[in-house]
Amino acid sequence: MVGKRVAIVGVGNVGSSVAYSLAMTGACHEIILRANNVDRAKGKALDLSQAARKHTVITVAETLEDVKDCAVIVITAGSPRLPGMSRDDLLLKNAQIMRNVMGSLKKTSPDAIIIPVSNPLDAMVYVALKESGWPRNRVLGMAGILDSARMAHFVYEKLGYGAGQIRCSVMGGHGDDMVPLPRFSTVAGVPLTDLLTWEEINEIIEKTKNGGAEIVSLLKDGSAYYAPAKATAIMVEAVLSNTKQIYPCAVMLDGEYGYKDVVSGVPVMIGANGAEKVIEANLNDDQDRKFAKSVGSVKQLIDALYTNKFYQK
Ligand code: 2OP
Repeated sequence: MVGKRVAIVGVGNVGSSVAYSLAMTGACHEIILRANNVDRAKGKALDLSQAARKHTVITVAETLEDVKDCAVIVITAGSPRLPGMSRDDLLLKNAQIMRNVMGSLKKTSPDAIIIPVSNPLDAMVYVALKESGWPRNRVLGMAGILDSARMAHFVYEKLGYGAGQIRCSVMGGHGDDMVPLPRFSTVAGVPLTDLLTWEEINEIIEKTKNGGAEIVSLLKDGSAYYAPAKATAIMVEAVLSNTKQIYPCAVMLDGEYGYKDVVSGVPVMIGANGAEKVIEANLNDDQDRKFAKSVGSVKQLIDALYTNKFYQK
């Protein structure tokens, strides 16, 4: 909490909105912004400092090496998704950026918990872990909270009631094969499957999968940022306050759900040590099959990256 430093590497729309969200809740005492365009970061830092009312000081790191001794580091650096692009189209470029950033951070903030946000998210978590050599609990990617929030929004649109009481669950990679889980979703504790027909639920599932692309196609010059930033801030706060709450996050699997050496979105207990526990829910055959497909898609990206000459050391 107070005294712990949070850094945000990459201060575009998502990064600056994460800072804003943290500054509004007063979750941490100091936020360090790092961007290639230092003046822009300075402008954002001034603006954010003047918005903060809860003793949050926002400063700027002139270089990546200046991002020192942070408790939590959010990485949003990378190219954003533009109309017509899938998240996977960003793979090589953003992997190089992640690799450079982690190569530096592992020296200057050796005890940090890292929250990657850049896409393709699950592959970026994998790269961050490989480049740092850190244990898997220290790198947890933001996606599941966002995808679940999107699903909850679409449930509300369909029902027309229950706002604030809708709890949805999405597992798998943050890609076209993500796995919205209506059987694990409720409204005030009532299973979603009791409230909507399967036709309606399937419509919500498709809208959820397409949730990011829908916003990209409307904005035309980038991707969503308020909801991704809020989801990221929730994770930062869970680490800083050691809440031990369960959220869907992208983590390296080590045997859970039957997979190893691949990253996927699963329910995770978040605490001061990051992803402290992977929760294994019982998936039925249909859920299991969809989760396998999603894990397979992430695996393809990871394989493409680590067998690609451009990427190899
Ligand atoms: C999103 O889902 C682009 O991954 C980002 O909005």
